[in-house]
Amino acid sequence: DLSTFFLGRPLTAPLMNASGVWCNVNGQLHALAESEAGAMVTKSCTLLRRDGNPEPRYHTLSMGSINSMGLPNEGHQYYLDYAERHDYENKPLFFSVAGLTLDDNLTIVAQIQDAYTPALLELNLSCPNVPGKAQIGYDFDALDVILAEISSAYSRPFGVKLPPYFDTAHFDEVADILNRYEKVNFITCINSIGNGLMIDMDSETVLIKPKQGFGGIGGEYVLPTALANVNAFHSRCPKKSIIGCGGVSTGEHVFMHLLAGASLVQVGTALYEQGPEIFVRLKTELATIMQEKGYKTIREFQGKLKTL
Ligand code: DHB
Repeated sequence: DLSTFFLGRPLTAPLMNASGVWCNVNGQLHALAESEAGAMVTKSCTLLRRDGNPEPRYHTLSMGSINSMGLPNEGHQYYLDYAERHDYENKPLFFSVAGLTLDDNLTIVAQIQDAYTPALLELNLSCPNVPGKAQIGYDFDALDVILAEISSAYSRPFGVKLPPYFDTAHFDEVADILNRYEKVNFITCINSIGNGLMIDMDSETVLIKPKQGFGGIGGEYVLPTALANVNAFHSRCPKKSIIGCGGVSTGEHVFMHLLAGASLVQVGTALYEQGPEIFVRLKTELATIMQEKGYKTIREFQGKLKTL
């Protein structure tokens, strides 16, 4: 039985897309709605439509992907229109917001609030791909400011999408900041490992055009970093739910994220490569692992990672 709950909402499975993958336009959103995913999220939006960075801007790697999309999106109103038509009985919808300024973010969240949809805000604090824009997730003062401002402007609970952290002191500091904001009731970790570089041996060139080839790394490369961030925030933020993201392409990876403390698991690179049918395989693989281990429900092992 893969059914579970996320913040009181029933899910058929603890699986969804990662924002940015298969969720830019209505056709893709409808495909996710009809897939076996238990929830779904829209592409991170800005106030206005953007073309994004020049192509090529995504490249498949041997163990994952590199991307520097640059926030191509249809503008927040397009996703609000989708959110107003979404079937919330079928599955919950998350609404990802990545405004270019604090004011843009405040404008967008005010519009979401006025739309009265049950969509859950996932505030993206970790886009590494807009030239000249630092990630809020790595500026702890800016992080505190945006959480204070969104908390006072937005009347409902919301979540944050964080970049990966690599230092215990940073886990402590970010968790302390998040714990001061009660409205932050979920944390999605992780976004891509920002500004990696991969090289084509034959042509001796970079693989993507923007930012001289630098881009966010996803897929198998990032699994240990993702699991560490999920577990670090799960243990430091006991009142918040964790959404795991990073390195998931099999049922085993889903199981590991759940064990580390995730309540819901996102799929990015592998969904990009394989399409929404992947959720059928991930569910079968997760169910098989649970059966082999003698677990009947997810809550029997969720967050129960053992130490030595
Ligand atoms: C993009 C990439 C991200 O990792 C993100 O969080 C938001 C946007 C992008 O390049 O489009």
